[in-house]
Amino acid sequence: MKHLIDIMELSVEEIQELIALAEDIMNFPEKYREKCKYKKLATLFFEPSTRTRLSFEAAMMELGGNVLGFSDANSSSSSKGESVADTVAVVGSYADIIAMRHPKEGAPTVATMHSDVPIINAGDGGHNHPTQTLTDLLTISLEKGKLNGLKIGLCGDLKFGRTVHSLAAAMSRYEGTELVLISPDELKLPSYVKNSYIKPNNIKYTQTTNLDEVMGELDVLYMTRVQRERFFNEEDYLRLKDSYILTAEKMRNAKADMTVMHPLPRVNEISTEIDKDKRAAYFRQARNGKYIRMALILKLLGVE
Ligand code: CP
Repeated sequence: MKHLIDIMELSVEEIQELIALAEDIMNFPEKYREKCKYKKLATLFFEPSTRTRLSFEAAMMELGGNVLGFSDANSSSSSKGESVADTVAVVGSYADIIAMRHPKEGAPTVATMHSDVPIINAGDGGHNHPTQTLTDLLTISLEKGKLNGLKIGLCGDLKFGRTVHSLAAAMSRYEGTELVLISPDELKLPSYVKNSYIKPNNIKYTQTTNLDEVMGELDVLYMTRVQRERFFNEEDYLRLKDSYILTAEKMRNAKADMTVMHPLPRVNEISTEIDKDKRAAYFRQARNGKYIRMALILKLLGVE
């Protein structure tokens, strides 16, 4: 594996290796403190981020490496019209590995065609977010003790939410997965995700607009934000933004061991009163992101 653009480029076995490595890093961080000494990670973020960029940077620092990059397209020469191709061709001579987020779907794929160093897709428009999915799989594995045989509710903006596209595809390869797709009619999971991953793997799935009706059946509830930045008009966003708000009252109908996840940032979709509920795993999930990104950097750089 040279680059990581789509979670489906990794086999289930490779994902398991990354999860095992991330768990080893969590348990024995001192073993890894100098693994990337003298290596550099460039973070090229053409779109805002808190978790993905900072956890990548923290990951490289904890491996003994250094980081460089930009967090705003306006502070890079893309604001003067430089192409993604030229940007990565140049940055590859300053850094050993590149994590890139871009608002245009496919931009990281273009980057791989012009880069001598590994490119990691850190989120491309409404398309994919493979390192969030690695984070999610590590979190499910840690919280539930397994990845097979789980009923997972994906709730909110399933149309534009790139994290759910990658997660639905990835979970489709685990035996006994059931997916419950909970969204307003306008924000349903795109057909390509169903036709390319869910249906060919014979994964049982249902679609509903009603979270309350299915709450009691779920092992995992994956909440998502309605993606304001992907809407073509503000009126539609305002109408749909509060379609689902998870409250303590709604949680009373959930299983005692249901896991609540969210890629974050959240806006209104999970009431802060749930943060102290032991089923709320979203801050643990954000923390796990650093360890799985450490594992991924080691793998892509070929560090033993
Ligand atoms: N989950 C996620 O991608 O968060 P950021 O946008 O803050 O990186």
